[in-house]
Amino acid sequence: MGYFCPHNGGQLFTHALELCWWFGQDDGGSLRAHRRVVSVSDRTKSRIRQALVTGAARRIGACIAETLHQRACNVFLHYHNSGDAVNQLAAKLNAIRPDSAFTIQADLGVPKDIEYLAGQIKAKTAGLDLLVNNASKFFPTIVGSTTAQQWNDLVNSNLCGPYFLTQALLAELTVAGGSVVNLLDVHAARPMHGHVVYCIAKAGLQMMTLALAKDLGPHIRVNGVAPGAILWPEQDSGSEEQQKILKKTVMGRAGEAQDIASAVAYLGLDATYVTGQVLAVDGGRSLHI
Ligand SMILES: NC(=O)c1ccc[n+]([C@@H]2O[C@H](COP(=O)([O-])OP(=O)(O)OC[C@H]3O[C@@H](n4cnc5c(N)ncnc54)[C@H](OP(=O)(O)O)[C@@H]3O)[C@@H](O)[C@H]2O)c1
Repeated sequence: MGYFCPHNGGQLFTHALELCWWFGQDDGGSLRAHRRVVSVSDRTKSRIRQALVTGAARRIGACIAETLHQRACNVFLHYHNSGDAVNQLAAKLNAIRPDSAFTIQADLGVPKDIEYLAGQIKAKTAGLDLLVNNASKFFPTIVGSTTAQQWNDLVNSNLCGPYFLTQALLAELTVAGGSVVNLLDVHAARPMHGHVVYCIAKAGLQMMTLALAKDLGPHIRVNGVAPGAILWPEQDSGSEEQQKILKKTVMGRAGEAQDIASAVAYLGLDATYVTGQVLAVDGGRSLHI
């Protein structure tokens, strides 16, 4: 058993308490790989960790970002349209700990934006401890009249974006011994009526979670959190449908964003021997789908 260092010709360290870490700049000011040997306990006890949360401006993403920040992470807050909300969140977190929250705008449906997002992370940190793929589009699609635009919006935000962003940050995740947590859905495994394309995209993300765990281990762990009914869509006033869903939820109520954020923190930061798993945080909803 050894530890892989991509900046050391892929050499494995064989001592159980040795890890390589990449940091620093050369005299010309450009980022350069250095090797420092630190003990596992040094790293886990004292190091500020670096986390990227996509779709972090509002709702569940904002709660995940705040929770990781409370757990001594510096947070990269990705957003698309919610500039005001993300700036407020960053200001709040930076007031608690200066220079601990950074905002980055990107449309995850646009390959160049994904490159830009990854480039901003690389410019600020050599190692990324946690990538949380939370951003998502959610809307119904009718079989028979689904447009290519609808397909692209749903599949790009829920599947292609997470895949290509993870790929773009592989070196940073590897060097930190990091992990990825994907936000799935209980309907990734069991379809939701009227949401075929969304379910296809989340099912793909669930398979991506398992497949990447296999291909990226042991250097990077990859897990998923599958929420049930947590926060209703803002435009959704259909309380009758909501009551039906809650009646089929064992806990008899909706969950809270914090339920999801705590699960993400557990899988992303604490569960160092867990990979390729999907944790349903659904109040028992999946027992009745
Ligand atoms: N809410 C629930 O009860 C529930 C249930 C099951 C699963 N989930 C999953 O849990 C996660 C969080 O749920 P949520 O309800 O909080 O999500 P949400 O509010 O529907 O969306 C989160 C963020 O995704 C961003 N986003 C959408 N399309 C994007 C794109 N093309 N590029 C970049 N960003 C994009 C938006 O950022 P901007 O606002 O900055 O544009 C949005 O604020 C999602 O993955 C969702 O599928 C949630």
